[in-house]
Amino acid sequence: MADGMEQERLAAAVAKNRKVVLRGYIERVPREDDMELVDGGAVELRVPEGVGGGPTVLVKNLYLSCDPYMRGRMQDFIHGSYIPPFKPGSPIEGFGVGRVVHSTHPGFGAGDVVAGMTGWEDYSLITEPEQLRKIEPSDIPLSYHLGLLGMPGFTAYVGFYEICSPKKGEFVFISAASGAVGQIVGQLAKMHGCYVVGSAGSNQKVELLKEKFGFHAAFNYKEEPDLTAALKRYFPEGIDIYFENVGGPMLDAVLLNMRTHGRIAVCGMVSQLGVTSHVGIHNLFSLISKRIDMKGFIQSDYHHLFPQFVDDITKHYRDGKIVYVEDLSVGLESGPAAFVGLFSGRNVGKQVVCVSED
Ligand SMILES: NC(=O)c1ccc[n+]([C@@H]2O[C@H](COP(=O)([O-])OP(=O)(O)OC[C@H]3O[C@@H](n4cnc5c(N)ncnc54)[C@H](OP(=O)(O)O)[C@@H]3O)[C@@H](O)[C@H]2O)c1
Repeated sequence: MADGMEQERLAAAVAKNRKVVLRGYIERVPREDDMELVDGGAVELRVPEGVGGGPTVLVKNLYLSCDPYMRGRMQDFIHGSYIPPFKPGSPIEGFGVGRVVHSTHPGFGAGDVVAGMTGWEDYSLITEPEQLRKIEPSDIPLSYHLGLLGMPGFTAYVGFYEICSPKKGEFVFISAASGAVGQIVGQLAKMHGCYVVGSAGSNQKVELLKEKFGFHAAFNYKEEPDLTAALKRYFPEGIDIYFENVGGPMLDAVLLNMRTHGRIAVCGMVSQLGVTSHVGIHNLFSLISKRIDMKGFIQSDYHHLFPQFVDDITKHYRDGKIVYVEDLSVGLESGPAAFVGLFSGRNVGKQVVCVSED
């Protein structure tokens, strides 16, 4: 709690706040001009009296995460959606890392670094501080708490260990393999003793998969006229585990290349986000003939495993067994372009926006 003088100092301090807002709902692949940087006026660098109806934390945003699922929140209604839409005119919400400026919650104090749901703006008032987690100072870059040690890393961890039921020596295929999730799945699978192949959308990403992440093989799906034949080449004996990130024609081709009793972890279908006419899947009969277990999952259902995930992945990172590549764009104003780049594959590694370094 600030004393009288400190309260006066905080009351006097103000800063400029900028926001990236959604202009209106869309029903297609997002474009940069669907979002707009607006002047949010001046913000007092303290939690206003009575705001939020309970303990509240004011954070200065340092890093913001660009994640494909955010596209779903740009539409006012999606059948079966598990997360509410954004509010047009309000800042985009997403995972972020920030520094606490002022707090009325006993668990957080000025200067603490936290990760959690925040807004695409310079300063955010967090009215549900229980969702924040404190980040202790360490050798790990702060932005990694949005990727390697954040939601995408956790998705890779639970998707691989909880959904794929991996066994040593199995054949694993990962699509969008160089991205935030895929790069970690591949490294975990390799550590587990699996044979790992990834697909990605450029030759630069293919090199990254083989040279940096140690995949056994990788290919550029955009240069393969026949995905079924390409997979047959990389997996002459078939695929035991498919970590699905893209959907569409890739899923169809994989179904024909699965082995009996294979597993498909349906993590995401980025190729189908914002597409109005979805690509039909023709080869689902393989699920029966090959007794394939195909299961969708949402990482947040496994939150009880988060502490174990942080311990395991931190150790692997410090032991040099896992490396991580991120794509940092600089400045809040770069957020819209960085976000829409996810849907054309412009990002190389985990896409993060650096708003401020201190
Ligand atoms: N289930 C969960 O709890 C959960 C949690 C997090 C993420 N996810 C899902 O996991 C997947 C990967 O997410 P991420 O954060 O790791 O994203 P990311 O791979 O870092 O970025 C998206 C990538 O998807 C690829 N892509 C975009 N449009 C495509 C298209 N039409 N066809 C094929 N590939 C396309 C691009 O890579 P290329 O250049 O290789 O094409 C792009 O770089 C997404 O589907 C996401 O929705 C699910």
